[in-house]
Amino acid sequence: MREKPEDLYLNLLKNTLSFNLWPEPPVPVESQNYLRAPWKRTIISFLARILKLKNLGLVQYVSPTEEERAEGKVWPGYADTMIGLKRLDNLLQCCRDVVEKKIQGDFIETGVWRGGSCILMRAVLAAYRDTGRKVFVADSFAGLPPPDEDNYEADAGDVHHQMDFLAVSEEQVRRNFERYGLLDEQVVFLKGWFKDTLPTAPIDDLAILRLDGDMYESTMTALDALYDKLSPGGYCIVDDYGLRGCKQAIDDFRKTHSIPDQLISVDWTGVYWQKNS
Ligand SMILES: C[S@@+](CC[C@H](N)C(=O)[O-])C[C@H]1O[C@@H](n2cnc3c(N)ncnc32)[C@H](O)[C@@H]1O
Repeated sequence: MREKPEDLYLNLLKNTLSFNLWPEPPVPVESQNYLRAPWKRTIISFLARILKLKNLGLVQYVSPTEEERAEGKVWPGYADTMIGLKRLDNLLQCCRDVVEKKIQGDFIETGVWRGGSCILMRAVLAAYRDTGRKVFVADSFAGLPPPDEDNYEADAGDVHHQMDFLAVSEEQVRRNFERYGLLDEQVVFLKGWFKDTLPTAPIDDLAILRLDGDMYESTMTALDALYDKLSPGGYCIVDDYGLRGCKQAIDDFRKTHSIPDQLISVDWTGVYWQKNS
C-alpha cells in the first residue's frame, strides 16, 4: 500500500459524503412536486403526509449511471453533497493546493445544502493539521429566495425557491459535521440570506471561495461581498455555470472586473479559476 494516510482518508471521505460506495436509494415521490401541476402537487403532498403517519412512503426507483453520479446529475437521497465525484475531486485538489502552497485565507462555500462539500473542506484542514484556517458555511438553511426580478432580471421565473428538497436546517448540517467528527471552532456558520450575511461576515482573507447558490442574485451577491478578499493564488470555484442565471452572473462579474484568469471546466456545470491578477 503506497498511498499516504491523508490520501486514503480524504478519498474515503469523498466517496462516503457522495454516497458513492452504495447504490442510489429510491426517491420520495413528493420531492419531485415542483415539477407537477398544482392539483397533482396537492394530492401527492396529502398522500405523502397520510402515509408518513404510518411510517410509509411513496418512492420512485432510480438507477443513475456511474457517469451521471460522478457528474452530480442526480439529486441524491442519502448523500451529504449533490455535487458528484468530479467536482469533489476539483474541490479537494484546490484545497490541497492552497494548503501546500500556504496561500493565505479561510475557506467558504456559499450554498451548502446538507454540508458535504464544507465537511470535505474541513477534513482537508484536519488531514494537513492546519489549525489556522476556518471553514465558513453560508446558507439560509431554508432553501433559495424567491426571484427578485426588479433587481436581477436574469432570475425572472426561477423556481428554485419552490424546491423544498433544497431546504436543510442548520441543526441538520451541524449534525452532519458531527457525524464525521469535524464540528469544532474552525467551522463557522453564517445563517441567513447572502445579501444580509456575506457583506459583514468576519472574514479577512479567503483561499477558497466556492459558489453554489444556483441563481444570479445568489452568485453575484457572494462575488460582490467576497471576491476582493480572495488571495492571489486562491481559487474561485463555481458549481452552477450550467445554470443560466449563475452563468450570466459569472460572465457579468468577470467582464465588469476585467478578470483575465482562465475559466477552467470541471464537468457539465462546474468551472473554476485561480486568481492570479
Ligand atoms: C444546490 S444547493 C448547494 C449544494 C451543496 N453545495 C452540496 O455540496 O451539495 C444550494 C444551496 O444554496 C442555498 N442558497 C441559495 N441562494 C441563497 C441565498 N441567496 N441566501 C442563502 N442561501 C442560499 C440554498 O439554501 C441551498 O442550500
